[in-house]
This record gives sequence, structure tokens and C-alpha cells, in this order.
Amino acid sequence: MRIDIGSIGELLPLTLVIAVTYMTPIKAVITGVQGYVPDFVLSNALLETMVDTSDEWIKSRTGIEERRILKEPGKATSDMASRAVLKLLEKTGTNADEVELLICATVTADMVFPDTANTICDKIGAKKAWGFDLNAACSGFLFALSTGASFIESGRYRKVVVVGADMMSSIIDYTDRTTCVIFGDGAGAVLLEPSTSGFGVIDSVFHGDGSGREYLHMEAGGSLHPASHETVDQRMHYVFQDGKPVFKAAIKGMTETVQEVLRRNNLTTEDVTWLVPHQANKRIIDGVGNMLGIPAERVMVNIQKYGNTTAATLPLCLWDYESRLNPGDHIILTAFGGGFTWGATLLRWGK
Ligand code: UT7
Repeated sequence: MRIDIGSIGELLPLTLVIAVTYMTPIKAVITGVQGYVPDFVLSNALLETMVDTSDEWIKSRTGIEERRILKEPGKATSDMASRAVLKLLEKTGTNADEVELLICATVTADMVFPDTANTICDKIGAKKAWGFDLNAACSGFLFALSTGASFIESGRYRKVVVVGADMMSSIIDYTDRTTCVIFGDGAGAVLLEPSTSGFGVIDSVFHGDGSGREYLHMEAGGSLHPASHETVDQRMHYVFQDGKPVFKAAIKGMTETVQEVLRRNNLTTEDVTWLVPHQANKRIIDGVGNMLGIPAERVMVNIQKYGNTTAATLPLCLWDYESRLNPGDHIILTAFGGGFTWGATLLRWGK
């Protein structure tokens, strides 16, 4: 057999293109983001009529001016999530039947079981999808985003929806001024699709410390303290928070994980286009931004409008700032929450 040297030369570039294409790892790109917040506005002025607090205290200690509350009878977390996801599908031109997996991060599931993700799939008509809930409190969306991205990176999934949704008003004691001024209801969702462009979810650093459960928890309703007259009388079905230790751990945890994920990817804070911190307290957000040396104009903040919506804060930020994001932007999401759970995720924005 005679080998024609000329044709090998012609084939070489093509072979290289094929090899490089197959070697470029698949990344999960956020191809759409959508939020939903209920219409009812619980203002600081209204809270002043409910508990011993003041607009001045709330604004100066937390940065919150108002929050949204789901007031519709018979509606729950899955309804807020479904509204966000339906709009997301419309916006991205996606048919509900194309969704393969839906992950819902929440601490306020509609019921103890089945999981809210399955209820959302039913409500949006995603007949071919399977799903599950992920409970990591305020870090829930961050952990779910990375989990959803892994399914895409495996090459076996092409359309994954990740939702962060919480109806915090269902577990807040509106006679406890230390918690009721902070939390609100809302949902945010992203669509993840594969890309080999180098954009997408790049890396994450996550941590957990179960001893932190002492400072932030809801004790009753699980297997430790099943619902009883006693648990209701003792108000154990509400969020408990010892704010100061959580405050300190949140600033340290978010700052350190952002630094770690940057270091691992040979980036500095100069390279960060947007920092997206969990919206628990404006003083925490400012603290993290200052420790990192990232100026306020590159830090996403919407806590004044929604308060702390737990698993929904990060996608609600991306939704609010979506029009200001550009392909290639380095975005760092970071969160700290009950558990304790915390971490940071680096992504490059783009389709
Ligand atoms: O999202 C999950 C993670 N969570 C967080 O990251 C939240 C972290 N913690 C915080 O954001 C803050 O600790 C809070 C906003 C919860 C509380 O702020 P603080 O500056 O740590 O206040 P504090 O609990 O030390 O309370 C200071 C004072 C107390 O009065 P005394 O004992 O000094 O007389 C409180 O009783 O402020 C009082 N206080 C209030 N006063 C008016 C607490 N809540 C209120 C209120 N209105 N709503």
C-alpha cells in the first residue's frame, strides 16, 4: 500500500481539531436565569406595628427595607418555584419535556415528603424529568448549582434546572423580633446546558461544620422532635438564630472560601467581575467585600428589597443583575448558612 504524504498533511489539522474538541472538558453554562417574588410587601413600617422594632434599627443593623411574603391561601414553596421555572423555560425557548433533571434547594419543602422538586416538575409539566431536594439552608443554591453542573459535566445530561426557593414566612415566628425582620419569601432558577467554550461553572470550594447547628436551626418537625402539642407550645417549629456567632462565622467562611477558589484558579480579586454574596445582612456583605478588597460597585446587593430568602438569594441576585452581565465575566458566588454550611463557586458567564 502506498501512503500519500500530501494527504496526511491535509488530514493533520482536521485530526487536531477533532482531538482538541474531544479534549475540551464539558462545562455547565447558565443559559437563563429567572426569579419570582410574591406581590405582598412586608415593609419595616408594617413590622413596627407587629413587634418592638424600628425602621432605623432594621436598616442600620441589616440593610433591609422590605421583604416579600407569599400570602395566597393554599400556595407554598413549589408554587413560587414553578412560577420562576415556567418563566425561565419561556425565556430560554425550552419545552418542559426537554428538562431532564430538576434540583430544588430549600429548607421549606411543601411537605416532609415527597420532595418539592417532584411537585415542581408536576406543576410545570416536566413529564420526563426526575428531581430531588437539597437542604443546605442558605448555601443550598450553591451546593445545588455545583451538583447540577456535575450531571452536565458527565456528558449524560443536556438540560438541568436548578432552583433555590424558600417560603421562610412558613417557619418564622412573627413575635420574635430577632428573626422576623430578616427573612422573606422568594424563588430563583437557572437553566444549565453543556458547553465546551470554556465558559460555565469552573470550580467550587465547599465546607460544613455540624456543630454550628447550635446557633441556627428549626428543632421540631423532624425525627428528633416530631410534631406534638408540646413542640407547638414551646414554639419549636420556628427558626432559632443566635445571630452574633453566625455573623462572625459567615464573614470568615465566605471570605476564606472565595480566596481559596481564586487561588486554586490562579486568579486574584482584580479578576473578579462580580461578587455574589448570600444576602443575609448588608453588614456581612460589606464585611466580606472589604476583607477581599472588592469595591462595592462589583458586589451584587438586593437585600434591601427581599431580605434573606435563604436558598433564593443567589439566583435572585443574578436575575436582578442579569442585564449587566457579559460573556467571560468572572463571577464568584458565595454563601454561608445553617448547618453550618458554606462555600464559594467560580463561574465564567456566557452561553
Ligand atoms: O442566612 C443565614 C446566616 N445568617 C446570618 O448570616 C445572620 C447573621 N447575624 C446577623 O445578621 C445579626 O446578628 C442580626 C441581624 C441577626 C442581629 O444583629 P446584631 O447586631 O448581632 O444584634 P444583637 O442580636 O446583638 O442584638 C443587639 C440588640 C439587642 O438588645 P440589647 O440586648 O443590646 O438591649 C437586641 O435585643 O438589638 C436588639 N434587637 C433589636 N432591636 C430592635 C434585636 N433585634 C431587634 C430588632 N429591633 N428587630
